[in-house]
Amino acid sequence: MPDAAPVTSATLLRMKQRGEKIVCVTSYDASFTRLLEAAGVDVVLVGDSLGMVIQGQESTLAVTVQDMVYHASCVARAGQRALRIVDMPFMSYASVAQALGNAARLMREGGAHMVKLEGGGAVAEAVRALAGHGIPVCAHLGLTPQSVHQLGGYRVQGRDSESATKLLEEARLLEAAGASLLVLECIPSDLARQVSANLHIPTIGIGAGPHCDGQVLVLYDLLGITPGKRPRFTHNFLEDADDIPQALRAFVDAVRAGEFPRPEHSFS
Ligand code: KIV
Repeated sequence: MPDAAPVTSATLLRMKQRGEKIVCVTSYDASFTRLLEAAGVDVVLVGDSLGMVIQGQESTLAVTVQDMVYHASCVARAGQRALRIVDMPFMSYASVAQALGNAARLMREGGAHMVKLEGGGAVAEAVRALAGHGIPVCAHLGLTPQSVHQLGGYRVQGRDSESATKLLEEARLLEAAGASLLVLECIPSDLARQVSANLHIPTIGIGAGPHCDGQVLVLYDLLGITPGKRPRFTHNFLEDADDIPQALRAFVDAVRAGEFPRPEHSFS
C-alpha cells in the first residue's frame, strides 16, 4: 500500500532502492489530476505533449512557457499527494539564464515541484544551475520530441553501440550535474536496463521496456483517445475497464506488479 505522505524526490529514490515501481501519468487539468491521485499515481507530469493532445498541434514545438504555467496551475489546484513535474517547453532553457527564469515561473506560478528538460551534454550546465538553486530536475534522454526535426521523426534511439554508449555517458553526466530523475523514451529494453542499473537516481520509461524504475504514459494514450495510429509502447487500459477510474487503477496496478510494459510494448 503506498505511503499517504506527499511524494518527493527522496520518496522516489527510496522506491528505487526497494525495487518498488514508480507510476507516472501525464495530466493537464484539475479533474483528471483528482482521478489520477485517487488511483494512486506517484508522479503527475504536466507534459508538453499537451501541444499535441490538447492543442492539436503536430509536435510539441509550439508550446510556450505561458501554456505550461496555465496547465500546471490547473493541475496544482487539484494536486495533493503526487509529485508534480512540469515540462520546460522548446527553447525555454537554451541558456542558463533562460532556464533559471523560466523554471522559477513554472514553480512560482505553475506550482511545479520539479521541472523536466530534454537533452544530454548540451543541457548539463542548465541542470547544474537549476539543481544548484534548489530546483529539482528531471532529465529526458532517448527520443526527445522537442528535437523531432533533428532526429528525423519519432524513432527508437540508441539501437547501435555508438549511440547506446553515448546515451549511457549522457545519463551519468546528467546525474552528476544534479538531475533527480531521468525519463528514458523509446530506447531498447537492454539499454534502459543498463542505464537504470548504472544510476543512483530513478529512471522512468516510456517505450523503454520493463527494467526502468518506473513507467509513464500519456493519459490520452492510456485511455485510448489519442487519434491516429496507436504507438507500440502504449496500451488502452479503458478497453477492459468499466470506467475511467477503473482504467487508471488498472494501469497503476499493472506497473506496480511489473505486468506493464510487456515485450509487445518494448523495443530491442
Ligand atoms: O510531454 C510528455 O508527455 C512527456 C512524456 C511522453 C514523457 O515528456
